[in-house]
Amino acid sequence: MIIAIDGPAGSGKSTIARCVAEKLGGVYLDSGAMYRAVAWALSCERLLDTDDAVLERALPSLPLEFVVRDARLQILWRGAPLGLEIRTPDIARAASAIAQKSPVRRFLLQHQRRLAQDTLVVAEGRDMSTVVFPNAEVKVFLTASPEERARRRVAQYHEQGTHADYQVVLEALKARDHADAHRSLAPLKPADGAVVVDTSGLSVPQVAQVVMDLVESAKSKNARRKGSRAD
Ligand code: C5P
Repeated sequence: MIIAIDGPAGSGKSTIARCVAEKLGGVYLDSGAMYRAVAWALSCERLLDTDDAVLERALPSLPLEFVVRDARLQILWRGAPLGLEIRTPDIARAASAIAQKSPVRRFLLQHQRRLAQDTLVVAEGRDMSTVVFPNAEVKVFLTASPEERARRRVAQYHEQGTHADYQVVLEALKARDHADAHRSLAPLKPADGAVVVDTSGLSVPQVAQVVMDLVESAKSKNARRKGSRAD
């Protein structure tokens, strides 16, 4: 079963996807981390501003690996796990820029589908339910006001020990939303049939419950379908 959760930065996707994956014993796939890791790798190799033909050849030979360990995606750069170094505002901006390039999207789409083979996956990002997993059994689009999302991002930066100015974070988040929603490739939007949930003012358990209810009804639908095939 695939549960696809999309939405803009700070809408609560990561927290909810991680929580639902834990409840269901599935794999949590953070596709945003994959875009951030590619931005990191291209920046290390001084390839951020290169053209598509060079990118196409360079991407498969980067020393970057995407593996599932302990039911979650682990990203290795030169054999060592990438962590907080991809969580900076600079890498977020670079990730949003390289996410507009078709060689990058094709490269990551292959890895995302490979990682989701033969397992229950809770995948979150911008195009999980529209492009990567259009047949996902559960499709959710999370939103929240930009102000609420910026407040959550500032709190996250503080938890990581990074000082962040609310107004700067709010402007950066709005710019990234605009770029992600208006690009020609896999723009951020709710998929057909996605359930849109505004998470402003809702707690994590409340939103997780909405997703768990959708999972339950998808499971019953599957069971009914199997039953009617067996009749
Ligand atoms: O989710 P996160 O903020 O970590 O994503 C960083 C950037 O990666 C996004 O702003 C977006 O441009 C890009 N991205 C994407 N498609 C995804 C996940 C992330 O284009 N499925």
